[in-house]
Amino acid sequence: MKKITIAIDGFSSTGKSTLAKQLAKELEYVYVDTGAMYRAVALYAMQNQLIGADFFDKNKLVAALPQIQLEFKFNPDLGFGEMYLNGENVEKQIRTIEVSNFVSKVAEVSEVRSKLVEQQQEMGKNKAIVMDGRDIGTVVFPDAELKIFMTASAETRAQRRFDELQQKGDTVTYEDVLHNVVERDHIDTHREDSPLVIANDAIEIDNSYLTREEQFAAVLELINDVV
Ligand code: C5P
Repeated sequence: MKKITIAIDGFSSTGKSTLAKQLAKELEYVYVDTGAMYRAVALYAMQNQLIGADFFDKNKLVAALPQIQLEFKFNPDLGFGEMYLNGENVEKQIRTIEVSNFVSKVAEVSEVRSKLVEQQQEMGKNKAIVMDGRDIGTVVFPDAELKIFMTASAETRAQRRFDELQQKGDTVTYEDVLHNVVERDHIDTHREDSPLVIANDAIEIDNSYLTREEQFAAVLELINDVV
């Protein structure tokens, strides 16, 4: 069977990573969560006091980029790679609401984007990859054989993310999560460099009323049409 590149883009908390992981497992492809890379850079900026509630020193972050090493290390128990920032596993730390609140500001910086895009293109150069993010079908892999664009209402997405955070023991409120989802959508769709837009040849899936199983089956059919 032909190996392809699958690009999954869309708004935050649309279940992109759940779908991407399912597909990677089924097809024995590599899965790359590009959001984790932007989140790790945001975490670095927070740890080094480069970003906070009322400040963001973009120039210092750009100057520090050569010192930021990002790597996915495969975890066989999970079946996918976990994010390491300068050698440290940061999977838990990058999923907090604090990182979510800063990540889109960090992702607006062109120098950050070009560093990460280059690394993503390198990871996908042999195809057989499922990559999720905001600019995969438009910028990272404009020639991807299959492009999916996922949407759902902001309320549905916030509820899903809220449930997830609660399960992890985070004491966040639903209102905080909804506010974060709406704000990130706004920044991601309005930034100058690589804004979140649907690629001309992407297939849009609104999963507000789809189960995971229905969605997975629909995408497998799309793949069968391509390979
Ligand atoms: O996918 P996730 O919600 O973890 O992404 C976190 C943030 O990283 C997004 O809201 C967006 O600002 C940024 N991002 C991006 N381009 C990507 C992936 C994520 O700008 N390819």
